Amino acid sequence: MKVRKAVFPVAGLGTRSLPATKAIPKEMLPVVDKPLIQYAVEEAKAAGCEQFIFVTGRGKTALEDHFDHAYELEATLERRGKTRELEALKAWLPREGQVVYTRQQEPLGLGHAVLCARDIVGDEPFAVLLPDDIVLSKTPCLQQLTAAHDRTGGSVVAVMDVPRDQTNRYGILQPGGVDGSLTEILGLVEKPDPAVAPSTLSIIGRYVLSAEIWPFLEERKKGAGGEIQLTDAMARLVGRVPFHGLRFEGRRFDCGERLGFLEANVAFGLSRADTGGPLAGIIQNLLPKAAQ
Ligand code: UTP
Repeated sequence: MKVRKAVFPVAGLGTRSLPATKAIPKEMLPVVDKPLIQYAVEEAKAAGCEQFIFVTGRGKTALEDHFDHAYELEATLERRGKTRELEALKAWLPREGQVVYTRQQEPLGLGHAVLCARDIVGDEPFAVLLPDDIVLSKTPCLQQLTAAHDRTGGSVVAVMDVPRDQTNRYGILQPGGVDGSLTEILGLVEKPDPAVAPSTLSIIGRYVLSAEIWPFLEERKKGAGGEIQLTDAMARLVGRVPFHGLRFEGRRFDCGERLGFLEANVAFGLSRADTGGPLAGIIQNLLPKAAQ
């Protein structure tokens, strides 16, 4: 069954990105000139999703405004004859009714945030995108996942290798058989100690999940950090539905971390036709002569 619905959990507090996230949501932080959430929504759109479900929380109204018309701004651009800017502003706006908002009343964890979308998603496979992960790739990462899902069915998550001493920061999988870029998932552990981690293959913030996950999320069991973890519910899918990790093509940036965010801005800036050349020159000038 085609993946039509995309869930964006955006109710987190973003404490690692303070003070930037004191008054604006982490997902509104820009990489070059576009907020993180817009990268994620555009990626879901490119993968064929038709409904965009935001699980928000208090202090997140800027996200809703971003996906709405800004009448004063649009009228001003029109009056000033800034047609190109006006068209660019409207081009990526989802169609009326395509965006749905629900609130996670308490930040009880990522698994709980996804559970908040249950009634809106219903009984069909769906995508989850964490906007603080962005991927620079030829084919949008979620599109790679949905293509794999068309072949395997069940659940497919994007995975990448991480340094062993960092396994305690990620959801790590126990790998089974390998078929090209697909690895069968035999088990999952959230933030395992490097000494006991079953591999160094980590799940990143892109998932295609089957509806079989809902009863396990409903149990609301607390896991690592006292939070209701998505990884724990996914671990229960093992053996019940086909479940694969996809080594995606592309480079992922964790924008929830200061350095990951800075790196993303440099990488996306360098990758763009309008900013790439001048930015390379700026970086060259900033580097101490010895490092050049
Ligand atoms: P993070 O683990 O990055 O948490 O959540 P956070 O609160 O956003 O940031 P820090 O750790 O305090 O800096 C990963 C994703 O899950 C969402 C976040 O919004 C983010 O997109 N999330 C997390 C929720 O929606 N609800 C939660 O209860 C927890």
